[in-house]
Amino acid sequence: MRNRYLTIVTILAALAGLYVNSGQTSDKKEPAVKRIDAVEKVIVPFVSKHCVECHGPKKKNAGLALHIYTDEKSILKDRKKWHEVVRMVHSGEMPQEKRPRPDLKVS
Ligand code: HEC
Repeated sequence: MRNRYLTIVTILAALAGLYVNSGQTSDKKEPAVKRIDAVEKVIVPFVSKHCVECHGPKKKNAGLALHIYTDEKSILKDRKKWHEVVRMVHSGEMPQEKRPRPDLKVS
């Protein structure tokens, strides 16, 4: 349980970082490696493991497909949707209850 909470915080922080930084650094050519790492190492693996099965190319529950988000840009473009996603994960509504709870170790 503790792990779960921690990783959700990591994801939130990663997303928050995207939001905060996107406005300021988009016109600069700074590498901002950490931010991109957060998307590729935390968000994408989490989503492909726990969400894409039901929200992906095969099934699109609630009209939501999450496999298309593979980088920072695509997430930022749909940040409204991602607020909802984060809310669902955070509140524990998604993934659905009958599923094994996410093992949130970031590998
Ligand atoms: C076992 C299948 C399943 C898995 C796994 C799953 N979902 Fe869902 N999801 C659904 C279904 C079915 C609905 C629509 C019905 C509902 O709201 O319960 C839904 C609805 C949603 C919605 C609401 C969309 C809207 O417009 O109201 C969001 C956001 C969402 N899921 C995000 C996620 C995220 C993020 C994950 C991974 C952490 C995830 N889901 C994993 C089946 C799943």
